[in-house]
Amino acid sequence: MATVSEAAAMLGSVPFFASLDGKRRKALASDGKELSYKSGDPVVGEGASGVGFYLILDGKVEVRKGDRVLATLGKGEFFGEMSLIDDQPRSADVIAVTSTRCWALSSWSFNALVKTNPEIALVMLKDLVKRLRAADNSLIG
Ligand code: CMP
Repeated sequence: MATVSEAAAMLGSVPFFASLDGKRRKALASDGKELSYKSGDPVVGEGASGVGFYLILDGKVEVRKGDRVLATLGKGEFFGEMSLIDDQPRSADVIAVTSTRCWALSSWSFNALVKTNPEIALVMLKDLVKRLRAADNSLIG
């Protein structure tokens, strides 16, 4: 397991967290934890209550609803934000499709992070817009 300083340095190399200063990165490093999954492992289950936010450090996951793959997400991308934002059950399954490492934050840490670092909310909003555009295009495509 990485030390808090090692974890803080690692988080600094991920664009999602790059806007944070060293002190905030350290706080985040001690708040979150690294989780590892094998290919085929479920990370999030549709309908479950949402307790965590995940940033992919390495590897790949698929977002699935039944047999349909909604998206494939990789290094530097995130998932699990939806149910933390609207307090609803998980909207889809998320399955690791290669060996995958994630940085996981509790809902409490996620909320604190977004409230104290509006630039993180902006990065996330841009990505959510990208996902909505892809979903719109898949309706007509
Ligand atoms: P959440 O609903 O908490 O858990 C499942 C996650 O899958 C969801 O948050 C999003 O992070 C992600 N997700 C759901 N739908 C899509 C989509 N269309 N494109 C990319 N990611 C998605």
